[in-house]
Amino acid sequence: MDAAWDTTTQEVHGGQTWSACPNFVCDFSVTTNAFGPPAAALAAATKALSTMHHYPPADNAAALAALSAFTRWPQEQLLLGNGASEFIDLVMRALPEGPFKPGPYIAAYKEYHRAARAAGRDVLAHDDTTTDPAVTVIIHPNSPTGDCMSLQDLDALVSSTKGVVVVDESFMPFRGATWRDESALCLLPQHPERLIVLASWTKIWSCPGIRIGSIASSPEWTRTFKKLQTPWSVNVSAQAFTVAACKDDAYMRQTWDSLPKWKLETQERIRGLGWKVNETSPSWVPWVFVHVGDRKVAAKAVEVAMKVGCPIRPCASFGLPEYIRLGVRRPEHQAVLFKAWKAELKLGAANGCSA
Ligand SMILES: Cc1ncc(COP(=O)(O)O)c(C=O)c1O
Repeated sequence: MDAAWDTTTQEVHGGQTWSACPNFVCDFSVTTNAFGPPAAALAAATKALSTMHHYPPADNAAALAALSAFTRWPQEQLLLGNGASEFIDLVMRALPEGPFKPGPYIAAYKEYHRAARAAGRDVLAHDDTTTDPAVTVIIHPNSPTGDCMSLQDLDALVSSTKGVVVVDESFMPFRGATWRDESALCLLPQHPERLIVLASWTKIWSCPGIRIGSIASSPEWTRTFKKLQTPWSVNVSAQAFTVAACKDDAYMRQTWDSLPKWKLETQERIRGLGWKVNETSPSWVPWVFVHVGDRKVAAKAVEVAMKVGCPIRPCASFGLPEYIRLGVRRPEHQAVLFKAWKAELKLGAANGCSA
């Protein structure tokens, strides 16, 4: 599907096919913020490039202080990294030996699987009840399905699970102005030895090209992770971007106001094609998980989307070939994609989907 990945050694992710579109319009294959990067943060990142002949601050001090204020989580218990991916790899190397178990969903973000195997861990099935995991990962909300458990359920799960639980909150800031009240960060003081909260900032601020991630944990775990971390993993542009983005309240407000409406619109259009959306995924989760009926329809949907410059994410690499995932995008971009699907797939409510 995607020549950028070596599937014998790597997991497949979205975001690589846009540059192969002859007439690119919009990338629906990723789940980044449809508004693109905050303008002031982009300007700050660009300006910071003029200092590239110096090493970046090794302590990430200004960016860490800004992110600490933004998340309302203590700076001494927060590390910044080269995207969440740096910490996905690091936790699998650092946490106690033993099997890894992905959260309780039919599919979940697979970079954890690669990192676990690379660190010598067995990978358990999501519904395994016979083996105690050493590391459980809950994506909150979960990609690709879009489900999101309540904080109460998450707390119960952490309390009843053996080993360490890593909660990936890369999409939690999309939730709205009260996102911090629903964050697993609220549970961390109760479970300091057994809970770790990891986040990607490349989603909410639409900056996967410059890589910003964080990990929040107890003072002890923070020290352990810091010892294993490569120095200068956050470059000057990413640090400057973080400082500016954390201050941009207007950007967050427009995100919370518009994206849920655009998601509802996408879901309506999908139902109009006779496909099924995951109705339990909240409207603030910035993608739609779609069951199109069968794998041939999914493959054709991917092909048509590419042809009109709107790549989408097939879910075959999650073991779900009859599903696709669409990032929430502006209505005018949705119009391009859905017009092409309507014309070329000849679907209607009567013949789309059997499940
Ligand atoms: C749930 C989840 N965690 C982590 C990542 C990786 O984020 P980053 O770009 O910060 O490495 C992704 C990227 O798609 C993701 O979906």
